[in-house]
Amino acid sequence: MEHLLYKNLKKLEISGIRKFTNMLVDYPNAINLTIGQPDFPTPTHIKEKAKWAIDQNYTSYTPNAGIIELRDAISKFYENQYGLTYQPQDEIVVTHGASGALNIALRTILEEGCEVILSAPAYPGYTPLIQLCGAIPVLVDTKSTDFVLTAELIEQHLSEKTRCVLLPSPCNPVGTIIEDAELQKIAALLKEKEIFIISDEIYSELIYEKKHKSIASYDGMQHKTIVINGVSKSHSMTGWRIGYTLAPSYITKEMTKLNN
Ligand SMILES: Cc1ncc(COP(=O)(O)O)c(C=O)c1O
Repeated sequence: MEHLLYKNLKKLEISGIRKFTNMLVDYPNAINLTIGQPDFPTPTHIKEKAKWAIDQNYTSYTPNAGIIELRDAISKFYENQYGLTYQPQDEIVVTHGASGALNIALRTILEEGCEVILSAPAYPGYTPLIQLCGAIPVLVDTKSTDFVLTAELIEQHLSEKTRCVLLPSPCNPVGTIIEDAELQKIAALLKEKEIFIISDEIYSELIYEKKHKSIASYDGMQHKTIVINGVSKSHSMTGWRIGYTLAPSYITKEMTKLNN
């Protein structure tokens, strides 16, 4: 009955990162630079609080969007750190890692045949999720712009089918950030267009000499942007699987249905 399995899934390959990481099991002395695992353990105060929470029986089902205390904390974090306001009640969803956040975001906005513009080289997790929705990843070679997806490159790849521009900043695997001036140009280019932006900000706390800026903070952008973030990299909690989306309520309402 294999022919009955979902055709878009059958076409996908297991991520190259995972394949390579699995190979490393046989080489215990190798230095693993494949998956983005921070070089410090989850901080002690977080581990202690988690043990306390289990002892208090915080172990049951939660609302689809996550517990309100956590959504509140995320809202305050984004307000204080990056000056962006999102309502905990209807603009934040807590997900299974940033991967879960990407999954519900892409499933909410994509459909068969539409296109997603993203920079190459790209984090390998993006393309399979886009293809699972039957959509087409439009990979833009960023070698000529020092690995930054610029407004000019985006404009060259726009088509009638473009549904979304996926902006990772800071960008995995190349480590570049999209500077303020370039973000302004991207915002100006996309402001009047019916195109969503997914802003993957999972590395926002790993910028050391500048301050992170989200595309959502530019004029006219917040109502069409889904911000992706989480605690995997900032708090070294990769195995805890906690991510989140920040998006206007009309998008959040739909994403929440997919989050269970
Ligand atoms: C750019 C990027 N986005 C998303 C993710 C997924 O993060 P998570 O482990 O929280 O699912 C990763 C993980 O390496 C990543 O590098």
